Amino acid sequence: MTATQPASSPGPPDDALGATVERITNDVVRSFDGAPDVRLREVLAALVTHLHALATEVTLTQAEWEAGIRFLTAAGQMCDDKRQELILLSDALGLSMIVDAVSEHLPAGATESTVLGPFYVPDSPQRQYGESIAERPSGEPTWVYGVVRALEGRPIVGAELDVWQNAADSLYAVQNPDDPQDNLRGRFRTRDDGSYGFVAVRPTDYTIPADGPVGDLLRATARHAWRPAHLHLIVRAQGYRTLTTHVFDAESEHLGSDAVFAVKPSLVRTFVARAADDPARPAGIEGPWTSVENDIVLAPLGVEP
Ligand code: BEZ
Ligand code: FE
Repeated sequence: MTATQPASSPGPPDDALGATVERITNDVVRSFDGAPDVRLREVLAALVTHLHALATEVTLTQAEWEAGIRFLTAAGQMCDDKRQELILLSDALGLSMIVDAVSEHLPAGATESTVLGPFYVPDSPQRQYGESIAERPSGEPTWVYGVVRALEGRPIVGAELDVWQNAADSLYAVQNPDDPQDNLRGRFRTRDDGSYGFVAVRPTDYTIPADGPVGDLLRATARHAWRPAHLHLIVRAQGYRTLTTHVFDAESEHLGSDAVFAVKPSLVRTFVARAADDPARPAGIEGPWTSVENDIVLAPLGVEP
């Protein structure tokens, strides 16, 4: 059936159409039989089977598929070393969180993972315990602290916390050409008791980049682009599974409607308001501040739940 053919026109009976689809799908799946990489063969066979089933289920028209190809082309063309529209697409479609769910399945008690997002930039500066990641005034100071432990409770010494976040103007440094490139990011090591602590700023809710094809998709489907306020962390330690996660602010307005479906209740923390004259005020903080306690539990390598 062509795109312009009305649904009532005579065409092949459904079972003939079904047989055609089945034959094409089988032919394509069999075309991968000689692939030396067994996993690649498995993934491609499933991809083709599901894509063919999708086109069949919705009776995809030529015009619709051309629009789909234009969309994917525009998304690819938008990517460069600072902008990753395809990660954003995966995030907005919830695919990143499905991959997280199936591949990061962690044992009970381990801190849960969530999306990486497109604003991670490797090689952050190494910073010392207590240092601030703000290289310019970037928002209300927040003391972020906690202990990194193994499942059985033992502190992990020398674990690396690679952190990044947005400023009160809602932008990550990588999005803001006027920002020092290392603003609001840094790598910290846990001390001998597994503890870490650093000065950040209270993160704000922000919109995912909506000036490209993913933004068009959100608008076409009457969806908003907001993410709830959060800090990002990647925690690495020898002998443990690397954890990519967030600390969400419990007061965030969009906790219940994250544009990328990445909120897990176990990752939500209370940012406690602290007065300027609070005696526990860490060095380098002036004026009102908040603190957030965030203990982290890492799963050992090679142990599946
Ligand atoms: C982020 O948290 O940085 C992010 C995650 C997914 C899409 C856009 C941004
Ligand atoms: Fe983020």
